Amino acid sequence: MNQRTTLKINDNGQLEIGGITCEKLAHDYGTPLYVMDQAYIEDMCSIFRDTLKQEYGDGIIAYASKAFCCKSIYKIINKMNIGADAVSGGELYTVYKAGFPMSKIIFHGNNKTYSELKLALELDVGYIVIDAYSEADQLDELCSKFGKKQKVLIRVNPGVEAHTHHFIQTAKIDSKFGFSIISGEAESIVNYVKNKPNLSLEGLHCHIGSQIFEEKSFSLAVEKMTDFYQKLKEHFNIEFNVLNLGGGFGIWYSDGDKAKTCDEYASYIKIITKSLNDCIQKKGLKKPFLILEPGRSIVGEAGITLYTAGRIKRIDGVKDYIAIDGGMFENPRFALYQAKYTVVAPNKMNLPNDKIYSIAGKCCESGDIIAENCNLPEINEGDLIAVLSTGAYNYSMASNYNRNLIPPVIMVKNGQANYAVKPQSYEDLIRNDI
Ligand SMILES: Cc1ncc(COP(=O)(O)O)c(C=O)c1O
Repeated sequence: MNQRTTLKINDNGQLEIGGITCEKLAHDYGTPLYVMDQAYIEDMCSIFRDTLKQEYGDGIIAYASKAFCCKSIYKIINKMNIGADAVSGGELYTVYKAGFPMSKIIFHGNNKTYSELKLALELDVGYIVIDAYSEADQLDELCSKFGKKQKVLIRVNPGVEAHTHHFIQTAKIDSKFGFSIISGEAESIVNYVKNKPNLSLEGLHCHIGSQIFEEKSFSLAVEKMTDFYQKLKEHFNIEFNVLNLGGGFGIWYSDGDKAKTCDEYASYIKIITKSLNDCIQKKGLKKPFLILEPGRSIVGEAGITLYTAGRIKRIDGVKDYIAIDGGMFENPRFALYQAKYTVVAPNKMNLPNDKIYSIAGKCCESGDIIAENCNLPEINEGDLIAVLSTGAYNYSMASNYNRNLIPPVIMVKNGQANYAVKPQSYEDLIRNDI
């Protein structure tokens, strides 16, 4: 377990988050329950924000909304003085309703609809990231109707593909995102967009992957992007003001991942800013405004999910299953890509983990598993179970599959707990049914 001051085993052998025991949270709010450690989120925001400022200067951390989106997260990150991205009309609407400054929003998406582009203009977002020729046409026309000039970036594919502990340099152009630099597509779209009268092309964006630990991947992306900036400068006399390098910083989920303190996460920003400072000097480029978009690393480890153990199924010589009151409807990541998690028993933290269980959800799917082969103490029906590092891509990926209710989200800090998202009711489920 990656313990910290706000997520720890207390003197009674109980798991505590934000100064409250899991037992109390489960008692007061029921299970399943998403719990978010606000102090951790604030720490990550300030560490990323301050490191970017100290090591580079002009730039912004734009929290990637897709990791965890609800009004209260925008209130927190606004207070921490960072920006955010959005990838759909729904995310745009949520961030707007939270009273967030829309000039600090970067709007992404490989297939933004006409109405989403219109909404983005109405709400006055800071940047729109273009990912198709026809999108550039549509946006230019819309801007002309609105009588405004919109700042845009273009999503490019720098030919660096990163996956957790390794990366490859690739000329592969089979990605639904971005224009390949290597194939020359990126050069063509740059020349196309820069001639659009109502679009102000400020720079380029790339995002090389997610849950990346290999720091070299990020410096390689910086190298490829600045090579391209240099080429555009020398061949077309185009100099950009902005460079957006996306997110993707790897976090701790289980024993196979490197456990880091909040401060140690600054190393991702340091490696990027060092490479960028070196590259712009070496290549004679003007210093771009740097945008970084971490999502998972800001909220991932902040979150835990609490469950109550239900039926225990023992299959002799095969496996022991604990069925929980949650499942793939509130955490689909194992079902989607066999994501690994650490599972603990919050009320039995001092007992030896001498049993092995797999954690199954309650959905009607055999693949509805949360984690396999977890070391735990003996678990009985009614025991509390916690899954750690569930703050990112859990609530935001939740569904009402099997008409299960999406659990509420509680924000905890200094011994206080408050709803960030209230519980759904069965009435909510049928609200739009005809
Ligand atoms: C464009 C863009 N920016 C940022 C992110 C955030 O990535 P992460 O949550 O891994 O930091 C993503 C994730 O898919 C993305 O597509």
